Amino acid sequence: MYDQLGMPAEDPILQLAQAFRQDGRENKIDLGIGIYKDADGKSAVMSAVKSAERFLIEEEPSKAYIGISGDEVFNQQMMTLVLGDALQAGRTLAVQTPGGGGAVRLLADLARVSKTNPTVWVSDRTWINHVPIFEETGLSYRRYPYFSAEPQSVDFDAMRAVLSGVKRGDIVLLHGCCHNPTGADLSFDQWKTLAASAADGGWIPFIDLAYLGFGQGLEADAEGIRHMASVVPEMMVAVSCSKNFAIYRERTGCAIVIAPSNEAARKAKANLVGLARVNWSFPPSHGAAVVRTILGSTELRPAWQAELDTMRARIEANRRELSSVLRARLNSDRFDFFATHSGMFSLSGLEHEMVGRLREVHAIFIPSDGRINVAALQQASIQRLADALAAELKEAA
Ligand code: LMR
Repeated sequence: MYDQLGMPAEDPILQLAQAFRQDGRENKIDLGIGIYKDADGKSAVMSAVKSAERFLIEEEPSKAYIGISGDEVFNQQMMTLVLGDALQAGRTLAVQTPGGGGAVRLLADLARVSKTNPTVWVSDRTWINHVPIFEETGLSYRRYPYFSAEPQSVDFDAMRAVLSGVKRGDIVLLHGCCHNPTGADLSFDQWKTLAASAADGGWIPFIDLAYLGFGQGLEADAEGIRHMASVVPEMMVAVSCSKNFAIYRERTGCAIVIAPSNEAARKAKANLVGLARVNWSFPPSHGAAVVRTILGSTELRPAWQAELDTMRARIEANRRELSSVLRARLNSDRFDFFATHSGMFSLSGLEHEMVGRLREVHAIFIPSDGRINVAALQQASIQRLADALAAELKEAA
């Protein structure tokens, strides 16, 4: 059987991570996979997470399976964290998933079994794994214009024009905040325009929310989604706790659905549970137990929020520093956009060949599309990146 298999296309982010691990140079810098690093270059465990884990080691009563839809307290907390006052009680439900990627897959499966045969519209540039997930699920997809390389921002007129023509019942995938890979986010006014377009045109927003709290803050990052939730009859949200709780390897997330009626919500939940059962059966427990402990504690919750704010402020500081060092070094405003983008990533606009030279000559690893993880930078690596770019751009001129 196995010799009949073809070789699948490699995921460029995973490929880069492996190349980085195998590279023997001591001064190598990883600006690839989306992991936050502190000023010492460490991806440390948050102290609120450590405290919750200590508590769980002492107090967790059992390792028996949790429910098939996961921990319902966690699910409720996530719905409240994301939707706040826009939570449509009775019409909103959640199922715990292995990470945000698991939530995207589960929701895609739900769309498939709905038999409405929707096309999924994805932004032109999107997370590298979105299209493979939809293809593997058997859904067809199309791209809508999103990012304009000149001037490195959202081309909202083009986006809106295409989305206004989307078929009723089609799905439009939006990034809740901190767009991956571009770093260019929608303004609240643009969210309002899109919500009106979804309500009028009957398309279903599918929001991937992997970076809540990494953009402008927990509340501000959720504003657009909350407005959308208060306006449209149907919506899906794939939520990840990987980044904002820094529990990447614990694979913690949830799939949220807003249905048009309580009855439809019951059916959606039953289908999600059925799909989870044939995929992974019961979800892993530990990460959700940590999140539940933190969000349910009057001590740990504010401590977590303060740590998250510190991470966000560091990302913003990295952005400002990177753009001002590059401006000074290159005597050009070409990279000013780093300061105005949001979240972990920015699409740098660097060509494939330049990306290759950064890796081969300077041991700086970024994915072939030129995405830079600004949340992984430190003072020293900002200087190294600026030196490398100054040398290579001079060479290329
Ligand atoms: C990324 O885009 O680097 C992260 O979301 C990690 C991943 O799974 O790709």
